[in-house]
Amino acid sequence: MPAERKATIYMDNAASTRVLDEVFQEMMPYLRDIYGNPSSLHSFGIKALQGINRARRQVASLIGAKPNEITFTSGGTESDNLAIKSTAYAIMESDAKRNLIITTSIEHEAILEPLKHLEKKGFEVIYLPVTREGILEPFRLGDSLSMTRTALVSIMFANNEIGTVQPIRALADITHRKGGNALFHSDAVQAVGKVPINAKYQGIDLLSISSHKLNGPKGAGALYIREGIRMNPLIHGGGQESLLRSGTENVHGIVGFGKACEIAAQKLQIYREDVTKLRDYLISKILKNIPYSRLNGSKSSRLPANAHFTFFGVNGEDLIIKLDEFGIAASTGSACSVKKQKPSHVLKAVGFSYEEITGSLRLSIGPQNTKDEIDFTVSVLSDIIAELRNLSPFSASTTTK
Ligand SMILES: Cc1ncc(COP(=O)(O)O)c(C=O)c1O
Repeated sequence: MPAERKATIYMDNAASTRVLDEVFQEMMPYLRDIYGNPSSLHSFGIKALQGINRARRQVASLIGAKPNEITFTSGGTESDNLAIKSTAYAIMESDAKRNLIITTSIEHEAILEPLKHLEKKGFEVIYLPVTREGILEPFRLGDSLSMTRTALVSIMFANNEIGTVQPIRALADITHRKGGNALFHSDAVQAVGKVPINAKYQGIDLLSISSHKLNGPKGAGALYIREGIRMNPLIHGGGQESLLRSGTENVHGIVGFGKACEIAAQKLQIYREDVTKLRDYLISKILKNIPYSRLNGSKSSRLPANAHFTFFGVNGEDLIIKLDEFGIAASTGSACSVKKQKPSHVLKAVGFSYEEITGSLRLSIGPQNTKDEIDFTVSVLSDIIAELRNLSPFSASTTTK
């Protein structure tokens, strides 16, 4: 075993990220000095409003939108709920026949749970299957669209567990060609700031973003709503955010979120080149050094920072606990599923056996990680896995598929 190291190696950036120093600095005045209510008419309020307006421009610019197409929320979950429930209810009000919603079986709970709620209210929801790599093939969506009945299609931009990036432009395109007036929503919580996104060019009507996934603070997020789309509010009150999301704005959170988006736009190139290279180094090093290991998800259509593996004959949760003893933070996948102690619905949906699911581990890196950290992590992981396999009555070689 390598000697225990005190420094923490954070490789769980898909769960949450560190607030950047520049973001923190930008937020500070809004916590202490610029404390006015952005709806107030005096200069305290005006300064707070100016901070929100600046953030709206910064968020919009990252995804090729206009500032008036950005609605601030409390995060990805609220954006997803707003996108789904609000549009569904608004469409149903104008045309009761349009009660069909189409999604995939690998969405985040922030999509699946509101859809379950809508099923109870009379909507029909189709959960499309994906390939073993996690890709939704556009023909499958095409086959289930109805010109007269489809209200909404919601397909995640990139998966939070296996990191697969969907062919979003093709999926949005087929939705608009074969789905009548159906709207196309994408949960882009894992993709924004990691891969280039242009909502207009990609044909997206609604897009969910979360601040804490891109080095901004928690408690802030946004929904992009293409100009002209009718939505019903989910939170009623003072009418903030163009009547769509009442409640005094989380000014410091929004300001930090905006700054994080501005920096993320400058760092897209770093993700495309440096982070991707580091990820590929991590992947090849693991596959070379750890027997009976396998990369999950897509080799080519994958988030720059995601590496997801199955290590046969070990339990992913044991790995996380042992890695933590060496100061390395990793995950089995979705933080939400971990709490529920349920096998991942994503890995089930891509067709993994129980053993393939339990032996899985996600390492999600970022620009802050170094080659040295990766070398250390792989060496620790290799020793831990060998030790766990020695203790296990089932040898990996007999259980590998
Ligand atoms: C794909 C996806 N959607 C939605 C969410 C929820 O975002 P938030 O934590 O901002 O509520 C997450 C968080 O892990 C996610 O990965």
